[in-house]
Order: sequence, then C-alpha cells, then structure tokens
Amino acid sequence: MVEVIPIQNAAHGANLCGIDLNKTITPSLMKSLTDALYEHRVIIIKDQKLTKARYLEFGRLWGTPIPHVLDHMRMPGYPELLAVGNTEEKDNSSDIRNGAALWHTDQSYERQPASATMLYSILVPSIGGQTKLADMSAAYDALDDKTKEKIDSLEVAHLYGAGKLLDDEFKANPLKTRDQVNRIPSCYHPLVLRHPVTGRKSLYATGQSSFAIRGMEETEARELLWKLKLHAIQDRFVYSHSYEVGDLAIFDTLSTMHSAVPIEKANANDARTKRLLWRISVRGLPLIYKNPGKVSKTNASN
Ligand SMILES: [Fe+2]
Repeated sequence: MVEVIPIQNAAHGANLCGIDLNKTITPSLMKSLTDALYEHRVIIIKDQKLTKARYLEFGRLWGTPIPHVLDHMRMPGYPELLAVGNTEEKDNSSDIRNGAALWHTDQSYERQPASATMLYSILVPSIGGQTKLADMSAAYDALDDKTKEKIDSLEVAHLYGAGKLLDDEFKANPLKTRDQVNRIPSCYHPLVLRHPVTGRKSLYATGQSSFAIRGMEETEARELLWKLKLHAIQDRFVYSHSYEVGDLAIFDTLSTMHSAVPIEKANANDARTKRLLWRISVRGLPLIYKNPGKVSKTNASN
C-alpha cells in the first residue's frame, strides 16, 4: 500500500512510503506513482536500496532514458546514469560540482527534452546539496489574464547555457568537446506547455537555456523571460528538498524547474562533505500510458 504524504509547509511535493522497488513493480503501483507525481510535481520515494541495474530498470518504466550530452560524466557501464556530486577527484572543481546550481529544466536545450528526472541519493553532505524545485504550473496559474494571453502561444529559443543568471547562480556544467557542442544546436519549445497527461498548463524552462522568443525583438524577449523566471522562483512556488540516504526523488520536468544548492569540495577524510546522487532523465511517457501490459513483467532482477 503506497502512502502519499504531502510535504508539510511546502509549496508542493510529497513523500511516498511503504514501497520497495526491489519487489515486483505492478501497473497498479506505477499508476499510483505517476498519479502522485502529476498531482504533486515532485515525489520522494523513501528508503530505497537499489543496484544501478535495478534503478535503471525502474527508470525505463518512466520513459526512454537519455544518455547525457556531457558524456564524460556518464557512469561506466551505465551510459544512461549520471553521477552527480563531488566524490570523484575530477568532479571537485567548483564549475563541475556546482554545475547544476542554477535554475534549469533538464534537457530543455534538446529538441526532445526530459519529461521526468530521478535522483537517487547515495551520499548526503552535512551542508548544502539540496534541490530547490519551482512549481511552474502554480507559477503559470498565478499570472494575470493579460500576461497569459500574451505568452500562451509564444515559442522560446533554447541553447545550452545561454540563459541569463542571477548573481548567486553558477554557470551550467561546461561542455568539454566540440562534439558535445555540435550535438545540441539551438531549438524552440513552447513558453507555455500543456502537460501531455494532465492537460494542465505550465511555464516551461525559463532558466538555463532560454534566450530569445520567435518573432520578438531581442531586448523585449530577454526582459520577458527574465521577468517570468523571477516570477516562477518566488518562495511561494518553491520546495527545497533535503535528501536522506535512500531517497529516490522524481521530478515532473515538464511542470517544474530546479536548482541545486551549492556544495563544498569533498574532503577525502570526512564523509559529511560528500554528495552523490545517481541521475536518470527520461523522455516520452511512462510505459503504463503507452503499453499497460508491459509493466507487469518488471520483476525484481538483481
Ligand atoms: Fe538538473
């Protein structure tokens, strides 16, 4: 029996208890999880103990996992998994370990962006490392009718790292190779996205990658995107999640924007300074919306 507990005094989000993802994952469980996600925008499945293989198997139920363009950060043997944190020496420069400490929506710079992201918590630092999540549906709903009418059919141009940043945001994790740059040319997405499952409207990805609006003068477009970003990240729309080891957080990336809270350089002798999350992002719909029978074959396999 899944227990869905809305997070107290938070703008949105729910903790999910009573789940062991090493057991058979039935269509009915997946329906409970997807319903909870679309109602609360972010869900935290508590107390999980997963191998990489089992985690990836679970991830595939949510859509098609996306091998990240930053291929140097993919996990050996598991190209669809990304290690996010500061546990590797190569991750310990500030621009890499804090490369997600800016408001963004995963893969918004790709033609087919992520529809969900999951982060499975392996190590938690004593300071920093939370994820702040803005509810972009609530942010859209709170706009006045005139603004909604103005923006409803606009298309935004996205390019990796091209969005305007606040003083306390870090730059996006740097692209390292010409090949990485070439794989993600600029693309357009609607500014207001209608959710493919719920039909609810959200502001979409007004952070890291948004830099222009089709048919709008450059300065006016940048000012509008900036205004909408500042609107969406107000405290009243934001939930900040502090991880516990074993948390599996899932974000509906079509109706949220998120930003990591910066972390310090890891100290090899002090476990409290280390952060490690395993990330999977997927595109497309969860399998139960495409092929309801297939999920029932997903049994524990580790
Ligand atoms: Fe992210």
